[in-house]
Amino acid sequence: MKIALAADHGGYQMKNLIAQNLRNQGFEIEDLGTDSEESVDYPDFAQRVVQEILRQKAELGILVCGTGIGISIAANRHKGIRAALLYDDYVAQVAREHNNANILCFGGRTMKIEDVMRRIDIFLKAKYEGGRHDRRLCKLDLD
Ligand code: RB5
Repeated sequence: MKIALAADHGGYQMKNLIAQNLRNQGFEIEDLGTDSEESVDYPDFAQRVVQEILRQKAELGILVCGTGIGISIAANRHKGIRAALLYDDYVAQVAREHNNANILCFGGRTMKIEDVMRRIDIFLKAKYEGGRHDRRLCKLDLD
């Protein structure tokens, strides 16, 4: 599975740790920046991952900012994107089962790496349930 990853300065360290962990697990990782702790604007980095998902160049996106909030708001402004802020383990499971999220968001200043990696694992092991959720996901993308 190819995973596209990006962060602003608030998520830079966490993004690098996630990339390292996922590479060690055998995932193909596309790191789209940022490349230092110099201040940048999170919408620019959300956009990079959004485009990879919409162009079907990656199957899953991961975005990190200080809290995970700004970067998830930015990603969710794009039709076809379902970005989920995985703030606990139950949410990680249901973000797959019900929301079929295609981008996972995390807070570099608010979360621990062990919690983030466990939530990614829970999400990846869960299965989208379809059924009534297909109808709801279709309604997200109505004009
Ligand atoms: C950057 O200082 C910070 O505002 C950003 O990383 C994020 O937390 C925004 O939601």
